[in-house]
Amino acid sequence: MMDYKDSVLKESSQVLDYILKDKLTEEDKDRITKDSIDNFNNHVNPGWLKYRKSVSTDATFVEWADSEETFTDTYGNEFIDCLGGFGVYTAGHRNPEIVKVVQAQLNRYALHSQELVDPLRGYLAKLVAMCTPGDLQYAFFCNGGAEAVEMALKLARLATGKHYYISTVGGFHGKSMGAVSATGKGLYRKPYLPIIQGFQHVEFGDAKAAENAIKNLIAVGETVAGMIVEPIQGEAGVILPPEGYLKELRAICDKYKVVLIFDEIQTGMGRTGTMWACEDYDVVPDILTFGKAFGGGIMPITGIIARPHLWTEQLKENPWILGSPTFGGNPLACAAAIAAINFTIKTDLPGQIKEKGRYFMDHLLKLKEKYSILVDVRGKGFLIGLEYKTRQIGWAVSKGLFKRHVMTGGTLNNARVNRIEPPGIIAYKTIDTIIERLDETLTEVTEQFK
Ligand SMILES: Cc1ncc(COP(=O)(O)O)c(C=O)c1O
Repeated sequence: MMDYKDSVLKESSQVLDYILKDKLTEEDKDRITKDSIDNFNNHVNPGWLKYRKSVSTDATFVEWADSEETFTDTYGNEFIDCLGGFGVYTAGHRNPEIVKVVQAQLNRYALHSQELVDPLRGYLAKLVAMCTPGDLQYAFFCNGGAEAVEMALKLARLATGKHYYISTVGGFHGKSMGAVSATGKGLYRKPYLPIIQGFQHVEFGDAKAAENAIKNLIAVGETVAGMIVEPIQGEAGVILPPEGYLKELRAICDKYKVVLIFDEIQTGMGRTGTMWACEDYDVVPDILTFGKAFGGGIMPITGIIARPHLWTEQLKENPWILGSPTFGGNPLACAAAIAAINFTIKTDLPGQIKEKGRYFMDHLLKLKEKYSILVDVRGKGFLIGLEYKTRQIGWAVSKGLFKRHVMTGGTLNNARVNRIEPPGIIAYKTIDTIIERLDETLTEVTEQFK
């Protein structure tokens, strides 16, 4: 072995000691903080800590543990999670029921042989079909949200033999080549142009614009495979669809035989007060993507489910033609997702989120009346956006809340909007605490920006 052997063994053993020990010493805590700053600056990206500094006055908060509605740094400082990992922690942090199942599966086998039949994949696919609307039937599992979007886009072409996609301005679908092509923000697309050709972006909420785009493409000899849209745009700044919009899209896609893809990676699993956001609008897509909370906040697992007419003979003959991710749908991840679905339905998490979301919203609307810097409060369930007069005010509010140990975050495509996306299991009294701290912060920031 080359001469890195000793140093790698020493460094990795030290980290393993931190992971394996029950309690860190004061010296460990200082060391981990210092190492994290050095490691991020030298081996991850110096920009990472600069970004954190814009939220926290101290970049040295190092996340070390979490539980239910909070996470804790190495020094034991506790933060209320009002961001929910951008939608990951709908069932809470380290939900004990889900952890128990994943641990049991881990004690049996974690990843799979790739050759024998892995039963949990089958059970999970069936459960997803059972808990999604309409005749959505065949599921395909992957590891990340962008990867699920890739599968949806590929399936639309595979099933129709057509070419173009319609997507929406401000929409967010991830950052892999196909997903970023669908994403509706120049900042993320521009460095990679020309990307996947054949995306036509139209304004979210304007069904006529979608129909015109399809009609015009067909008129000039093109073909349209699919339309991808978030039922509620998340990263665009929490934008609700206008009345009837999703139904109109359904009718347009039926008329032109275009595959309708709902990207529910963020809105699914109860986040907006129903198991899937599309249920509340009474529209069934041809393909539905899911991710984030799907693994119960424990394991990364994402995927798509499609209506049977899209599962063509070609795909049945060669199931790997769509994709064959080594880790997609592995047993550990499937165990987590099965436990997450069970927990979500058993505790009526979507119903809880609907009620708690209303409670939260009522209080937020009162704050909007009180503070003119807060120009809009909108959302559904626990996907709530707070829009400020300027992005600087948005950052200042995030920072003020963080100082008061409440974690929120911005939205990727709209810097003036902060998101409120807490775990669904959050207690009413914690919501009261968040409101109190937000009230204090808004007073402070109003003064600051006078
Ligand atoms: C609607 C939607 N689609 C896709 C993605 C991409 O998911 P991932 O970050 O897991 O690739 C996101 C992530 O925020 C999302 O909100």
